[in-house]
Amino acid sequence: MSNIIIYGSHYGTTKQYAEELSRRTNIEVISFEDVKKINDYDNIVYLGGLYAGGVLGMSKTIKKLNNISSRKIIIATVGLSDPTDEINKNNIRNNIKSQIPKEIFEKAKIFHLRGGIDYSKLNFAHKTMMKLLYNAVKNLPEEKQTAENRAMIETYNKKVDFIDFSSLDKIINEI
Ligand SMILES: Cc1cc2nc3c(=O)[nH]c(=O)nc-3n(C[C@H](O)[C@H](O)[C@H](O)COP(=O)(O)O)c2cc1C
Repeated sequence: MSNIIIYGSHYGTTKQYAEELSRRTNIEVISFEDVKKINDYDNIVYLGGLYAGGVLGMSKTIKKLNNISSRKIIIATVGLSDPTDEINKNNIRNNIKSQIPKEIFEKAKIFHLRGGIDYSKLNFAHKTMMKLLYNAVKNLPEEKQTAENRAMIETYNKKVDFIDFSSLDKIINEI
């Protein structure tokens, strides 16, 4: 059985989770940009940072899989919003569903991890996007705020780190 951990990360939080998972499981780890022969692996663990609902690199990577029936696929998202919030979790899952083939979505084991953000490191496009989003949601009444909005408002323009390696335990159990 050959296994691989693939990650999609812009600013390193997902990479940190992926590398820690690799250290704890002894499974090879690689960025989605460097994956060459994905079909050589039986079991695939994909970790991707959440960007406007998308899982960075996931659909591009999963599209390359020829035959999924014999493979085990684990997907873990890394985002700023609280993954223990059920509505948030459902939103993330629905977004994943729209990004990958139905058969893979139904087969995949899906997990959610919490990352972090450092506004001083964001590129111009991401800073602009966050500013637009922040301005759009900051004055919404409390009952209209989602976990996603709340996380963004609370952390806007700051540096926060919610990385918790113990949250990898459930993925390790699944592996
Ligand atoms: C432009 C932008 C969009 C984002 N969209 C989401 C999102 O939809 N949901 C979420 O939970 N976090 C979102 N985040 C936060 C990132 O998912 C979080 O910072 C994550 O830790 C990034 O992973 P990385 O450091 O591996 O790139 C967004 C961050 C940026 C800069």
